[in-house]
Amino acid sequence: MSVKPVIELTADGSHTLFIPELDEHYHSVNGAVQESTHVFIEAGLKHCLKDKIHIFEVGFGTGLNAFLTLSATRNLSKKIYYTAIEAYPLAEAVISQLNYANSCNPQEKELYHKLHSADWNKEIEITDNFYLKKIQSDFTNFDFKKITDKIDLIYFDAFAPDKQPDMWTQEIFDKLYTVSADDCILVTYCAKGVVRRMMQHPGYSTERLPGPPGKREMLRAVKHT
Ligand SMILES: C[S@@+](CC[C@H](N)C(=O)[O-])C[C@H]1O[C@@H](n2cnc3c(N)ncnc32)[C@H](O)[C@@H]1O
Repeated sequence: MSVKPVIELTADGSHTLFIPELDEHYHSVNGAVQESTHVFIEAGLKHCLKDKIHIFEVGFGTGLNAFLTLSATRNLSKKIYYTAIEAYPLAEAVISQLNYANSCNPQEKELYHKLHSADWNKEIEITDNFYLKKIQSDFTNFDFKKITDKIDLIYFDAFAPDKQPDMWTQEIFDKLYTVSADDCILVTYCAKGVVRRMMQHPGYSTERLPGPPGKREMLRAVKHT
């Protein structure tokens, strides 16, 4: 996949990217920030009650989910260890045009840029309670042994299964389950039955939840041991 994204405005005024070769957007055109907040923060992060949370994101992309997570936990006593995998890091020329931090105070704007300027493949302290490790790698052949701490929360934010079926395989969900901690929560905007069954196969309990505006449902899976 060659990535030549086009910046577009979504219905809530926040940007998304469109990949013409895939005919696919990074987020819902009904509202990028609205969707990410609904799926990953409200249905995921807010249900993870641990004080120390290891998050694993599939597809770092614009850094929107990392930024929303950082903002939601800044004034909490929780420690966040955020690992994100990305095969196609965005060019600075694209990142610098995205409007996610435009209405934020200067300190938050700086944090958004810090997420992007952080070195790849190293754990970087972004704030005293938020540590980021961006891994530049192809998720479809990722060596899960590189995950040394069990994951408490998974943001599964790959392109849709019909666009990138190799990101949504039984093997991948089985591997994610083996690196999931007890009570690990996995959230995704996708609500397909075939994806739900792939999550259930290794042992996740799954539920369909109301989706963000414009999408009827989404999925949340939990590892109950
Ligand atoms: C739906 S977008 C979401 C990105 C990000 N979470 C965001 O909010 O901007 C999917 C992301 O997966 C990345 N991706 C595509 N194929 C990949 C692969 N084989 N391995 C890792 N990342 C991949 C894309 O480059 C893109 O950043």
